[in-house]
Amino acid sequence: MKTIIADADDVSIMAASKIIKSGGLVAFPTETVYGLGANAFDPIAAKKIYSAKGRPSDNPLIVHIANKKDLYSVVKNINAEIKNLIKNFWPGPLTIICKKKTCIPNETSGGLDTVAVRFPANPIAQKLILYAGVPIAAPSANISGKPSCTRAKHVIKDLNGKIDMILCDDKFSFGIESTIVDMTQKSPVILRPGAITFEMLKKILPNVIMNKNLIIDDEHPKAPGMKYKHYSPEADVFIVFSDEKNMDIRERKIVDKINKMVSNNQEKKIKSGVLAFNQTKEFYKNCFVLSMGDKNNLFEIANNLFDCLREFDLNQVEVIYAESVDEKELGSAIMNRLLKSAAYKKIKA
Ligand code: TXA
Ligand code: MG
Repeated sequence: MKTIIADADDVSIMAASKIIKSGGLVAFPTETVYGLGANAFDPIAAKKIYSAKGRPSDNPLIVHIANKKDLYSVVKNINAEIKNLIKNFWPGPLTIICKKKTCIPNETSGGLDTVAVRFPANPIAQKLILYAGVPIAAPSANISGKPSCTRAKHVIKDLNGKIDMILCDDKFSFGIESTIVDMTQKSPVILRPGAITFEMLKKILPNVIMNKNLIIDDEHPKAPGMKYKHYSPEADVFIVFSDEKNMDIRERKIVDKINKMVSNNQEKKIKSGVLAFNQTKEFYKNCFVLSMGDKNNLFEIANNLFDCLREFDLNQVEVIYAESVDEKELGSAIMNRLLKSAAYKKIKA
């Protein structure tokens, strides 16, 4: 298949909307990561998403809408808590799981009686949905199991030749996928942390809880997507941490530990990579070092994370040692993605 690759100007967005209407697949930017979109009401189009991504078909898709009232067309039982969420966080990087209406086919909802819905803040995504005139079902636009795409070049690498069109625009506000909150349980449950943080949600939903599978990995995962290996580059990733309270000593311990492992690898002719910060990148020797950004700027780190993971692959790195951030606010979402890419392997410095 020939994939049209175009800058996301108005003419291309209009062309893309026609492709969606006629049952095709379009990758488009959102404020989180690129999505791979199809008409959410069209079961055959939804099926095409699974085959383009190589994604198991029991893994449901997020339905994207372009105004708040459209939520009422696709889900039922919208209570005061859900209304409050929408009022505070939409449009934005928050996906809400509700009981679905029958207009959402099983192919879109992965056979569940619930559906995940999001109103993205990105104006290109909004225009695409409005021009298409239908909600757009879209998972992240990456090959299943690979890091999500935050640059057009990532989408082209994964999906060129497999989909109808790629709308390119790399101005991302967040760079990691939306927060997912399940509103169909007794208490609201965060299934995936994101830029709408636990702390922010807690102010609106005092009884919200974090799905404990985010922390303990070997139980049955609640979001079906969590049972598959995710966000992984080809290389073997390890998170290197230290319990040391003093920040300077902690940093030194981590750097020393990583440098030791790198030199061991060098003797064995294994190519090492280090995922570091602007403040620490200079300290590493004899390896391929990438900085996620300023250690104190969690937004910059989130924005660069997936690009760095993919960059290691392009440089044939075999083992990656990643520094960590504190697991609070946006840091929880960053560590969630890093730990998944490492299959939860940690090394204590
Ligand atoms: O930021 C995002 O959310 C991006 C952009 C494109 O909007 N989309 C995205 O979609 O990350 P995806 O499919 O890669 O991740 C959605 C996750 C999957 O783990 C899926 O299993 C889960 O949401 N999910 C979707 N519908 C669900 C449902 N009804 N119940 C539980 N989990 C659901
Ligand atoms: Mg995904």
